[in-house]
Amino acid sequence: MRELVGKAESRMSKQIKIFDTTLRDGEQSPGCSMRLSEKIQMAKQLERMGVDVIEAGFAIASPGDFESVKAIAETVKNASVASLARALEKDLDRAYEAVKHSEKPRIHTFIATSDIHMEHKLKMAPDAVVRQAVEAVKYAKAKCFDIEFSAEDGTRSDPQFLARIFDAVIEAGATVINVPDTVGYAIPSEFADFIKKVRGNMKFDHRADWSVHCHNDLGLAVANTLAAVQAGVTQLECTVNGIGERAGNAALEEIVMALHTRKDQMGYETNIKTEEIMRSSQLLSSITGVYVQPNKAIVGANAFAHESGIHQHGMLANRSTYEIMTPESVGLKETKMVLGKHSGRHAFIDRLKTLGYEFDKQKVDELFEKFKALADAKKTIYDRDIEALIIGEREPDPDHISLESFMISQGLGMTSTALVRISKNGEQIEEASKGDGPVDAAYSAIENILDLEARLIDYQLHAVTEGEDAQGEAFVVVELEGQKYRGRGLSTDILESSIEAFIDAINQMITDKKEDSVHGNDYDTENFSIKSRA
Ligand code: KIV
Ligand code: ZN
Repeated sequence: MRELVGKAESRMSKQIKIFDTTLRDGEQSPGCSMRLSEKIQMAKQLERMGVDVIEAGFAIASPGDFESVKAIAETVKNASVASLARALEKDLDRAYEAVKHSEKPRIHTFIATSDIHMEHKLKMAPDAVVRQAVEAVKYAKAKCFDIEFSAEDGTRSDPQFLARIFDAVIEAGATVINVPDTVGYAIPSEFADFIKKVRGNMKFDHRADWSVHCHNDLGLAVANTLAAVQAGVTQLECTVNGIGERAGNAALEEIVMALHTRKDQMGYETNIKTEEIMRSSQLLSSITGVYVQPNKAIVGANAFAHESGIHQHGMLANRSTYEIMTPESVGLKETKMVLGKHSGRHAFIDRLKTLGYEFDKQKVDELFEKFKALADAKKTIYDRDIEALIIGEREPDPDHISLESFMISQGLGMTSTALVRISKNGEQIEEASKGDGPVDAAYSAIENILDLEARLIDYQLHAVTEGEDAQGEAFVVVELEGQKYRGRGLSTDILESSIEAFIDAINQMITDKKEDSVHGNDYDTENFSIKSRA
C-alpha cells in the first residue's frame, strides 16, 4: 500500500473542474426553490468555495428564473455562469440574454438521446435529433463561445449513436460534452467502460472537455462520478448536499473530499476551498429548510462524532486511528463567540466583510438594527446568527403584510387562543381565534384577518446555533389558493418565528400574484413543469 501511495503521489496531479448545479437541478427539486436574494447569496458562497462553473438556472422556465440567472451572471466574477436551454432557438436566445453579462458566459444545451426518450417523449427519429442538436449548437455558438452539450438520458443511449451526435456537436462548436446519468441507472464500472467506448468510437473526442452528471436513484451518483474521473472525465456536475431531482444529484462535498482524501489513488485536484464546504451546506439548509440527515457523509452532524468507547480511546491516542480527514478541513470549527451586546458598528461591519458580504450603508444600518435587537435577546452572536439574519432579508413591498404584535394563551388541557395584530396597507387589523395548539390558533387568527384559507403542509423548527437562547428558525410550506408557498421566520421566540414564517409564505403569494399579472406564467416548458413556489 505504501509503495502504491508513493507511486501515485509521484504522478503529476491533474485538474478537475467542479460544475455546480445547486441553483438549477437542485433548485428544481421539491422543497428547494429559492428566492432571488437567496440564490444570489448562495451563488456568492459557491464562488467563495471555488466552484469553476455555476449553473444558475434555466432562463426560459419563468421570468423569475431569467432574472436570477441574469443577476448571478452580473454578480459572480470568477466562476463561469451557465444557463440551461433546450435545443431550441427561443431557449438559447433567453439563455444568452441571461448570461451575456457574465465574465465567463456558458450556454448549456441538451436533447434526449436514448431510444426510449426519442420515441416516447420527443417523438423524433435519431437523424432528426442529431440535426436539431447540431443546429442548436451552431446557433448558440454564434452568440457565445462556451457551449456545453448534454445528451439527456445518456447512459441509456446507444453508445454508437452518442459517438455520432457528440462528434457532430463538437464540429458545430461545442466546448464541453456532458454524459448525464439522468435516471441514476448506471453502475460504476459499467459507466467508466461506457464512456471509454463512446470516446473510442469518436473522431473529435479530444477537442472538447468531458463531463458527467449523475443522479442518485440507486445511491451511486458519487461512485459513478468518481468512476468517470478514472475514465478521463475532467468536469464533474454536482450539487451541495446532493439536492436535485428525485433522489438528488451527486453531492459536491462527497466528490471533492473523496478526490482530496484519496489523491494518493486518483491523483486529481480541484479548485475547491474545502474549508468552505460546511458553510455552503449550512447556508443551503438555512435557505431551503431542507436539512441533511445526521449520518450524511462529510456534512452530517455525526460525520465527525466518535461515540463508541473503543473509537474514543483510539482517537485520544492518535486521531488518525479513526479519522481519515479532519473536521477543520471541511470548515467544522469549534463554535466560538463572534460578537456580543457591546460590539459596535465597526466590529459588525468587519464581521460582515470577513463573511464575504458587502452592503450599501442603508442595508448595513438595517442589519445593524436587527443585530442590536438580537444582541439584547441573546448573549453571544455567532457567524451563523448573522447569516441567518441576512437570509431573512426580503425586498420591501408596500403590499406585504407584517406582524405587529400577538398574545397567546395556552396550557395543558386548555384550548389555545391567540390574538394577532398585523398591518396591511398602512392599516392595523387584529383578530382572535382558537386553535389546536398555539401555532394553529395564531395561524387561524391571521386567516380570519385576511379572509384566507390556508393548509399547512409542512412545519419545521430548528435552532440556528447551540444554547438555550438560540434563535429558532421556522420553516413552513403552506397551500394558499391551490399553490404551495414556502415561508421562513427567525426569532429567539419560537412562536414569533412560527408566525413570521406563515406571514412570509403569504407575502410570497402576494409577490407571485403581482409578478404573474405582469408577466403571465404561461411559459412553454414542456418536460419541465412550472415549479410550485415551495
Ligand atoms: O439529469 C439530466 O439529464 C439533466 C440534464 C438537463 C443535464 O439535468
Ligand atoms: Zn439532472
